[in-house]
Amino acid sequence: MHDSNLYININEEKTIRYAFEKIKSKFGILITIIDKSGKLKGVITEGDLRRSLLKGYSLETQLKIVMNKVPVYITSNQLNNEGNKNDIINRLNKLYPDDSYSRKYILIPIVDDKMIVKGAISFDELISGTYLYKIKKNKIPAKILVVGGAGYIGSVLVRALLKKGYMVKVLDNFVYNQDSLDKINSDYFKRIKGDAIDTNTLIKAISNVDAVVYLAEIVGDPACALIPETAFKTNFLSVNSMASLCSYLNINRFIYTSSCSVYGASKDPDNFLTESSSVNPVSHYGRMKLMSEHAILNQVSQNFSPTILRLSTVFGVSNRSRFDLVVNLFAKNAYFYKELNVFGGEQWRPNVHVKDVSKAIISVLNSKLEIVGNRIYNIGNKKNNLKIIDVAYLAKEIFPKVKININKSEKDNRNYKVSFDKYEKEVDSFNYISVKEGYRELYNFFKNKLIKNPENKIYYNIKFWEEYNNENSKS
Ligand SMILES: NC(=O)c1ccc[n+]([C@@H]2O[C@H](COP(=O)([O-])OP(=O)(O)OC[C@H]3O[C@@H](n4cnc5c(N)ncnc54)[C@H](O)[C@@H]3O)[C@@H](O)[C@H]2O)c1
Repeated sequence: MHDSNLYININEEKTIRYAFEKIKSKFGILITIIDKSGKLKGVITEGDLRRSLLKGYSLETQLKIVMNKVPVYITSNQLNNEGNKNDIINRLNKLYPDDSYSRKYILIPIVDDKMIVKGAISFDELISGTYLYKIKKNKIPAKILVVGGAGYIGSVLVRALLKKGYMVKVLDNFVYNQDSLDKINSDYFKRIKGDAIDTNTLIKAISNVDAVVYLAEIVGDPACALIPETAFKTNFLSVNSMASLCSYLNINRFIYTSSCSVYGASKDPDNFLTESSSVNPVSHYGRMKLMSEHAILNQVSQNFSPTILRLSTVFGVSNRSRFDLVVNLFAKNAYFYKELNVFGGEQWRPNVHVKDVSKAIISVLNSKLEIVGNRIYNIGNKKNNLKIIDVAYLAKEIFPKVKININKSEKDNRNYKVSFDKYEKEVDSFNYISVKEGYRELYNFFKNKLIKNPENKIYYNIKFWEEYNNENSKS
């Protein structure tokens, strides 16, 4: 019994383009290059194909030119012979010293004595001895790059991905000095500290990945207004560069977290806004979200099928807590100060729990590209579409002592009630965590003294950048 799910035989005369077409939508496949008589001549991985494009080869280049012509392989007989097997392991150890992450996805072809490919085995399995043609289907997990994975959403998403068996690489500049990923201890996880504004860093991070989730931004209207140029570089130019790289390198899956704030000051706030409703962002942040959506979708091709997720305002506990988001802010003020302020109050705002955002992203990753590629989806749930005043009154159910101050003269112009039917119909439907449950979770989080100083700037993008600006203007 051979495992044909881990490798694919392609003739040496075929091109890079042909190889990409053959492995489309499959993760972790080894391409074994064969001659006319079916004998193994070389190997190439998806990562190698992409590296050859970066080296200037074209999609029409023949595989025999770019393949590894001296591949490490193992014969069926050697698999049963400890001595010979160890020779091969020693060679691999020299090629990949101390890299327990790569060993999870490096595949070695198994050949018979006539050099005909009979299977493939992962480096890890070769070492552990759990092989002998017992490799399960789809054993090599998909490798996901999460750019901005140390943030409020990212640090929850990364854990959820690892739990589901994905391999995860995070690129983040840890600008908020966050320790949100410190406790993750897994061979399936790798972190790169680096700036997404730098294209060299993006190129380094993107090697050997199957899909990209892009979260690295200056997040929120006030923070973007404080550092508009950095925000433009991060939220537009870097997103654009990453999308171009994925498109160029045939990385089909790209998920971008946009925001329902693109609807901004809706002209018809009492009706549900769908993905095709008109947009009207009211801030630099919202406008850049829209520009990035356009820039990403403009690059759609046969080899690039991005998905745009317009998230509701997120709430809930994370490994990088933020108290500058409406539910989290109300909960923090209700718990620590027994008082909260509402500006305006009549404006509609959709809300979604951070764990449900992770679920929604993972469902997109698991969906067929023909369904989710080149699509925009609103992410959230009907029951969490609430007026801000109602978000405040819900807090009172969990924090009964809270006094609610309403300031009708100061208003937030953002006002949008959103429909989530498209995602539910096309991708997935599940039970979303309610705002009230979110308040209960935050209450317990505070009660368990998991936050020492709730006003620390690390919990507020705006405070962080205010202090940053002040310090920089002094120097
Ligand atoms: N939180 C929400 O309510 C919400 C709503 C809608 C959309 N979104 C979108 O979700 C994404 C993530 O938001 P979040 O709430 O997790 O924000 P966050 O500020 O907690 O996370 C952003 C992450 O990006 C990193 N980062 C910033 N600049 C970087 C750079 N130049 N290079 C590398 N890393 C960099 C930060 O260190 C941080 O880890 C953003 O695209 C945001 O617009 C968030």
